[in-house]
Amino acid sequence: MSNAEHPPYLWHNHQLVRWEDATAHLTDHWWASVGAVFEGIRGYWNGTDAETYVFRLDAHLERLASSMRLVRMDDSFPPDVIQAAVCALIRANAYAGDVYIMPLAYSTGGRSFGSVGERVTNVFITSRPTTSALGEEHSLRAGFSSWRRIDESSMPPRVKAVANYRNSQLAASEAVLAGHDTALMLNAQGKVTEGPGSCVFFVRGGTLFTPDLSSGILESITRDSVLRIARELLGLRVEERTVDRTEAYLADEAFYCGTAAEITPIAAIDHHELRAGVPGPVTRQLGDLYHGLVRGTDSRFPEWRVPVGLAGQQLQSAQAVTHVPW
Ligand SMILES: Cc1ncc(COP(=O)(O)O)c(C=O)c1O
Repeated sequence: MSNAEHPPYLWHNHQLVRWEDATAHLTDHWWASVGAVFEGIRGYWNGTDAETYVFRLDAHLERLASSMRLVRMDDSFPPDVIQAAVCALIRANAYAGDVYIMPLAYSTGGRSFGSVGERVTNVFITSRPTTSALGEEHSLRAGFSSWRRIDESSMPPRVKAVANYRNSQLAASEAVLAGHDTALMLNAQGKVTEGPGSCVFFVRGGTLFTPDLSSGILESITRDSVLRIARELLGLRVEERTVDRTEAYLADEAFYCGTAAEITPIAAIDHHELRAGVPGPVTRQLGDLYHGLVRGTDSRFPEWRVPVGLAGQQLQSAQAVTHVPW
């Protein structure tokens, strides 16, 4: 990348645009972010194939379409258009390394909160060099937040709406100020939900378990991938169910999972050190398998990897590392 701060191009409303030339009018900020929805997607570089594989792009674009439908955006940016745009953008930025891709859909126009049909849908997509932490020894210490996770009665946690992340920010900043690395959140019923930007899994007595989709969590694509790897490749006993706070404290192992979080071991929860150490054996096994699958060094689940078509291109390999907030 010629410029360490940003890639050469982004995509905005059906066009590749040079980064410096991408503009929206100041007044478009008005209520645009309240209704905006987005995706966080990773592309993993495979040096042997000289190719970037976008992980589960179809699932992310299906979720983006669901998020857009829920906030009553029109269907002027269907998944096939965004899929072609994501691949074209990564090719245009011509970067030989891992990337984090973010399509964001926002509305402009409309005279009131309730105006439907008057608003115009806009989409921009960024793809920035972002290294993966898979394979590194790292872990986080978590603390339960006093902020409860948003739920279906007020805000829809199952979709990726920008406004939901105010709840995440409140929890994460409280946890950091209390001396933890990040948060875990309970729902209004006091059951475990997820982290501020990731889902969570626990292992106890050989069983892998995670809050179910009705606990108040995002319909996470990584969570779905982990469940499939655990069931289909490792033959583990797996449960999706409500999870009590004390089960988290008594777990042998725990880890966050998400596109940004990948698989991040949890070392302690509210200062309860997890018994199997970090990473525990199941977390390590899942992390190793996940790494091979996302990067394409493990050829199973080929439908999970979309090649963007970098073969034969002149690529830049600048080490501009972007931190993905989660
Ligand atoms: C609140 C929240 N939960 C869970 C996740 C994990 O979802 P996914 O695996 O689809 O990235 C994310 C990340 O996007 C998130 O923001």
